[in-house]
Amino acid sequence: MNTPEIVLHSSPTLLAAAVAARLVTRIVDIQSTGKIPSIVLTGGSTGIDVLRYINSSPARDAIDWRRVELFWGDERFVPADSEDRNEKQARDALLDQVPLNPDLVHAMAASDGPFGDDVDAGAAAYADLIAGRDGFDITLLGIGPDGHVASIFPEHPGVYDDRLAIAVRNSPKPPPTRISLTLPTIRTSDEVWVITAGEAKSGAIALALGGAGEIAIPAAGAIGKARTLWLLDKAAAVRLPSGFSRAPVA
Ligand code: 6PG
Repeated sequence: MNTPEIVLHSSPTLLAAAVAARLVTRIVDIQSTGKIPSIVLTGGSTGIDVLRYINSSPARDAIDWRRVELFWGDERFVPADSEDRNEKQARDALLDQVPLNPDLVHAMAASDGPFGDDVDAGAAAYADLIAGRDGFDITLLGIGPDGHVASIFPEHPGVYDDRLAIAVRNSPKPPPTRISLTLPTIRTSDEVWVITAGEAKSGAIALALGGAGEIAIPAAGAIGKARTLWLLDKAAAVRLPSGFSRAPVA
């Protein structure tokens, strides 16, 4: 278990740009050891902004994109071409712009895919896909104002589930049907980065870092094996518990 580290940036724009730079650097570092980095992507506004910043950065091409393996932390169970889909948003922001190896890009099922509307079969297929892996290098997560991460919501069945990936029904955040990694799966990641901006998230962040349990605040259970990073803008940090600095780096 490691203590969460907090890095503050003065605006949402700087946050997304700085996380983009950090992710490019980590991917290059992992590749230079000869490994194929395994990165779990997130949906949500800040996570997608990070991908946009990577796409517009000259450092984007320092990555050998053919040697990057991508997963998703959660997915909205909607048709493949829906703008709501995390995969579609990530493709538009970055993935369709770089020479990825399609065999290493592991999207979760869509509602018009091979499993049709059987979300349980889609989730089970994702669990099979990741079974036997020795975790991930980096898992990116957003956080909701209620403290959810991926599609693991407070007091919802998923927060009690220890399968690798699960179907989520009646999600409090639309759309209602989703697929998600569970908290135990997220914790197989070497590094977990929780990335978020805005005061609306500040209460949940304060609770997660202030010792809340993961049933009430799932983000409290988002912990990396080697490192847990909270990458925040200053508005998201206004309620940080005492002991954490609220001053941005810049
Ligand atoms: C999703 C997410 C979800 C998201 C948070 C934060 O598919 O909806 O993966 O967990 O990351 O709700 O979203 P925002 O950054 O848009 O607030």
